[in-house]
Amino acid sequence: MDFFTLLEKRLSTRAFLGKEVEEEKLQQLLEAANSAPSAGNLQAYRIVVVRDSAKKKALGEACFRQGFVATAPIILVFFADPEKSAARYGERGRELYCIQDATIACCYAQLAAVASGLSSVWVGAFDDAMVKGVAGMADNLKPVAVLPLGYAAEKPFKTGRQGLSDLVSYL
Ligand SMILES: Cc1cc2nc3c(=O)[nH]c(=O)nc-3n(C[C@H](O)[C@H](O)[C@H](O)COP(=O)(O)O)c2cc1C
Repeated sequence: MDFFTLLEKRLSTRAFLGKEVEEEKLQQLLEAANSAPSAGNLQAYRIVVVRDSAKKKALGEACFRQGFVATAPIILVFFADPEKSAARYGERGRELYCIQDATIACCYAQLAAVASGLSSVWVGAFDDAMVKGVAGMADNLKPVAVLPLGYAAEKPFKTGRQGLSDLVSYL
């Protein structure tokens, strides 16, 4: 699929079929995340793959009861590792680079999902402590994105965007 077509096909999906995601597709998607750029190539992030039903349900609760979250066959949770980045970059690593590292990795995963015929939605509304608890991650890691993914059970509508003139300045 042409890259620009892929970008058009990536639409947030909040309803998923029960069909399992093939292991090969999951691995490909994780490799895509792993290929993302990161500050100093430190990859100051962690990814947790959640397939366990009880854990998925708990994650749905942690996302302020967004019920669709738990219906995905797989939920990926992306964490930033502030201290890993801070060890080299100090405050800028702690506050910014690790968040960017995790965000870009999630972005790559989301686009790779489309290339494999999968759909997802970026979920950012959650209780940090609850997400950390469900994922069993250390307290120093910061959850950045929850990504339920699977085969779409809906045809999401295409959302609009601002015009480029509202977003871009030329100097
Ligand atoms: C940082 C971030 C946080 C988001 N949080 C949520 C969320 O908590 N729940 C949800 O249903 N969608 C969430 N979304 C998805 C957006 O609503 C969606 O991307 C936006 O409406 C544009 O639609 P599209 O993804 O189909 O292009 C989030 C997206 C981003 C990038």
